[in-house]
Amino acid sequence: MRQAGSTPLHVDLRRYLRETDEDRDLTRVICEVADATKYIINAIRTGDLGMAGTSNLYGEEQLALDVLSDRIIRKRLIHSGVVSCIASEESGEIQQIDPDCEQKYAVAYDPLDGSSLVDVNLAVGTIVSIYKGCDVLRPGREQVAAMYILYGPRTTLVYSTGRGVHEFAMNSLMEYTLNHENIQMSNGAAKIYSPGGQRSKYSSGTEEFARQLEAGGAKLRYSGGFVPDINQVLMKRNGVFMYPHLKNAPDGKLRVLYELNPMAFLIEQAGGAASTGKGRILDLQPRSIEDRAPIFIGSKESVALAERCISEAG
Ligand code: AHG
Ligand code: MN
Ligand code: MN
Repeated sequence: MRQAGSTPLHVDLRRYLRETDEDRDLTRVICEVADATKYIINAIRTGDLGMAGTSNLYGEEQLALDVLSDRIIRKRLIHSGVVSCIASEESGEIQQIDPDCEQKYAVAYDPLDGSSLVDVNLAVGTIVSIYKGCDVLRPGREQVAAMYILYGPRTTLVYSTGRGVHEFAMNSLMEYTLNHENIQMSNGAAKIYSPGGQRSKYSSGTEEFARQLEAGGAKLRYSGGFVPDINQVLMKRNGVFMYPHLKNAPDGKLRVLYELNPMAFLIEQAGGAASTGKGRILDLQPRSIEDRAPIFIGSKESVALAERCISEAG
């Protein structure tokens, strides 16, 4: 694997994938999603649904942004010729694309995570999980790639194909160019923590974890958007995000297939950890595309502390 900094900055995404000898069809999937985001950005920024880049939308149909984003991505993946099946947060079932699936890619995605935050002008994102072969209902450790696009003050794309985590930023030509290569989490106590869910519904173990984080000097940073909240932990190379088990929701809120697995893959690739509080997220065997699980994700040290607190106090 290239050493960090061995590639000139600002090389574009497609060239970077080619120069790192990435599989041609996997490159196709990653670049199709990257291209789709140009239309999603337009829809988010202007709310002009007619610019969604799909011919059958004339704008008069008031589509929710997440449904529109789903259509934009789905259409590109279907026509890519390299996708075997699709599972999206916006549809309740897995769509089979090609029965000749062994050598193709199975894709699970959340087309627009945090869509309700657009109305209050907070950052949102797209999350994608990619497997080789015919099925997405598999442990996250079998993913061959994961990526997210963060629609914030800047639009950035973070991906890994199992050889490090790399960040690209969108330039004025709407191209993604390399910004950070081989991002690595640093060890040490969390300086920030991102606690999802209502504190009054935390278990004693999670409450104790949050107390120890604060006692250690960690500051609360929570936007309510999974993608920006995870991105902050990754790009600061430190900290922890959690959406824990709650007294009224023992499995927490976030979905295994297209939220937890891709983020867990990326954070582990960056040298961090991702746990349900009782075990590794990537070892979960999903039973349905709607499976949820609690998550503690970020610096290894903080995730280990969470697991200790929960094993001692539930
Ligand atoms: P989505 O908009 O795809 O349903 O996901 C929203 C998720 C995630 O972005 C965030 O971490 C979580 O909802 C926040 O939940 P709370 O509003 O309960 O904090
Ligand atoms: Mn989501
Ligand atoms: Mn969503």
